[in-house]
Amino acid sequence: MTAASLAATFNATSREFDTLTTQVWGPAGQSLAYALEFASGDAVLDVCCGTGASAIPAAAAVGPDGIVHAIDLADDLLEVGRAKATDRALRNIDFVLADATQWETPSTIPDAGYDALACSYGIFFLPDPEGNFARLVSLVRPGGRVGVTVWRKGAIEAFSRTYFEVIAAHSPPSEHSGPLAQDGYDKHPIRRMETVDLLGAWLRGAGAIDVRVVELANHAPATETFVWNLVLGSAMRGALTPFDDATRADIRAELSALLTERGIDSIDLGTLVATGVRAP
Ligand SMILES: C[S@@+](CC[C@H](N)C(=O)[O-])C[C@H]1O[C@@H](n2cnc3c(N)ncnc32)[C@H](O)[C@@H]1O
Repeated sequence: MTAASLAATFNATSREFDTLTTQVWGPAGQSLAYALEFASGDAVLDVCCGTGASAIPAAAAVGPDGIVHAIDLADDLLEVGRAKATDRALRNIDFVLADATQWETPSTIPDAGYDALACSYGIFFLPDPEGNFARLVSLVRPGGRVGVTVWRKGAIEAFSRTYFEVIAAHSPPSEHSGPLAQDGYDKHPIRRMETVDLLGAWLRGAGAIDVRVVELANHAPATETFVWNLVLGSAMRGALTPFDDATRADIRAELSALLTERGIDSIDLGTLVATGVRAP
């Protein structure tokens, strides 16, 4: 997907995206923030920040002497993040519309670089995940910390296969190529980072040492409301683009029926949380 189509897809999710934060984005973002062991006063870069699932806990951790630059392509998600930060009276977080592949360290950050870099559920959307992330790691000072979260192998799989089967029954395969799409499933970048060993090697390849990867177990009951919010509030929404409202309503009903028929009553949201240190 191009930056423009990613921005369009994620801007379209803005109404439902944050309904998922409590059960989906939040646990991973909070875990990543803890795992990065921020210190008071740290300068943090959070890329692919969405509504701030990891960036807002980072801002709380680094305190008033710290700063978080939270960047994303989707301004409608950033706007939700800004409102959440205002609600929490956090003045040390800037939500900025920017492409992570182009970001340069502003002059307000010490020359050595950021103290930490975070990216939760974002690296597999970058056009060149390895190259783009290695460049972002280079914006962190030597000895600073870097961390990512990704879906663990098998997470959301039974659900997403069912969803894309329903989509396929309504149309020829779309060009949608999110990490969980049937089409191109085996070739998707997420396959290169979906186990503890793969993700550890991936982060070392991007320039990190002392890498630690832990698994965060998480399950959500597959209620009809949650399931549809998961579709509308994530990249899976992109596959609905060709359809009118009536067809979308049919897809929702058929998805719900097929999940019931298959006994899928819980969604596996298993996630890997990986951290390391930028090599000197
Ligand atoms: C699944 S969401 C995760 C958002 C957030 N980190 C969270 O965990 O809630 C992925 C985000 O990556 C953003 N994104 C994708 N490619 C990007 C890029 N090149 N630069 C900045 N943001 C990007 C999307 O706009 C989307 O908000």
